[in-house]
Amino acid sequence: MDTSKREAGLKRLASALLEKGTIESDWLPAFNAVPRDVFLPARVWPGIADGTKQAAVVDRTKDPERWFEAVYSDIPLTTQWDEGRHTGDDVGTTPTSSNSLPTMVFTMLKDLDVQLGHQVLEIGTGTGWNAGLLAHRVGGNSVTTIEYDPDVAQDGAANLLTLGIRPTLVVGDGRRGHPRPRPYDRVIATCSVGSVPHDWVEQTRTGGVIVAPWGPTYGGEAIVRLTVQENGVAEGRFTRSSAFMRLRQQRPDRPPHHLYLRGEPWPAGGETSKTSLSPAKVGGWIEQFVVGVMVPGAFWRTERYQDGSYTLWVYSLDTKSWASADYEPDANEFEIVQAGGRRLWDEIESAFHWWQERNRPGFERFGLTVSEAGQMVWLDTPSRVVASIPHH
Ligand SMILES: C[S@@+](CC[C@H](N)C(=O)[O-])C[C@H]1O[C@@H](n2cnc3c(N)ncnc32)[C@H](O)[C@@H]1O
Repeated sequence: MDTSKREAGLKRLASALLEKGTIESDWLPAFNAVPRDVFLPARVWPGIADGTKQAAVVDRTKDPERWFEAVYSDIPLTTQWDEGRHTGDDVGTTPTSSNSLPTMVFTMLKDLDVQLGHQVLEIGTGTGWNAGLLAHRVGGNSVTTIEYDPDVAQDGAANLLTLGIRPTLVVGDGRRGHPRPRPYDRVIATCSVGSVPHDWVEQTRTGGVIVAPWGPTYGGEAIVRLTVQENGVAEGRFTRSSAFMRLRQQRPDRPPHHLYLRGEPWPAGGETSKTSLSPAKVGGWIEQFVVGVMVPGAFWRTERYQDGSYTLWVYSLDTKSWASADYEPDANEFEIVQAGGRRLWDEIESAFHWWQERNRPGFERFGLTVSEAGQMVWLDTPSRVVASIPHH
């Protein structure tokens, strides 16, 4: 590695993060001592900042300038698709490992509030960058990091070793955490969950902090910062919107369309109605979060047509209920069909109106309580429960 090039890259990315206010100066020594390029393979797929779109591969051996440019930009970089089964240059179906958006890495580390002497657990080693940053702060001996995919774990360990960093690296299912002689002061997940595993809470000391991306199956996601209380319950607020890949064992199985209409042509005996709520209005990230929290066990797909119109299909995971909402540009009324035991579109409308009547609260006004019994999402204060969500 050309060190002057690395220094220039580090300087450029640090300035971008400082300008955005997403890195605190206390993380700069770690940022410089644990350079991002050490953790990236030759083939990376750059994403855009919200993590929803990906570009084709950038290959260091073919285009070192572009590779370097991507590595020292504030973008996430996918490093594995479809659990390693995808090998081509184009994007695969599901991104399954990545080096996260630098802005997200450092804002999460700020939320984590790591202090010298802390024992830290990370779930999702990935490329090892975040574990390396943590180790620079508290020492490799104080960092435990868990990666489910053995190949990813091997690469992550090798990257860390390049800089002489040796955390405790466990290959296994991070849902179970990793017991130590004494509990962790800090736990950070770098893959998202719909259910905070209770083992993480049990392995964190009273007053300890858990930072994790949390989101319902329907969509929408934000970082939650939980503090473990004396009674063993973890509670705290969401801090900001996020878009992480899901913890492998919590990826929902979304049943195929044909299981819902059971071979019949649409509207397949469903109940037809009209609504003035545009399907486009419920598609934003916070709207999906609110719907996901209040309409449990649902997911969606869209079917797009040439003229800009589309059908929003909403399904219950149990394959019993579905709804279709037809979006037409410039229309004031939209056709709805609902079938099965639940009226999914009606549930979505009432969740949306609930949110609208409270002046459309952002992620930061929501919070989460995690106990052994389950999870509760609340608004402003833990007593204003929005929904109880069982562990899964
Ligand atoms: C966004 S990447 C992690 C980024 C990483 N912290 C870094 O600095 O490069 C998410 C990682 O979580 C891992 N993962 C998914 N499910 C897991 C599980 N149950 N236990 C441990 N790791 C898991 C994935 O294999 C993937 O490598």
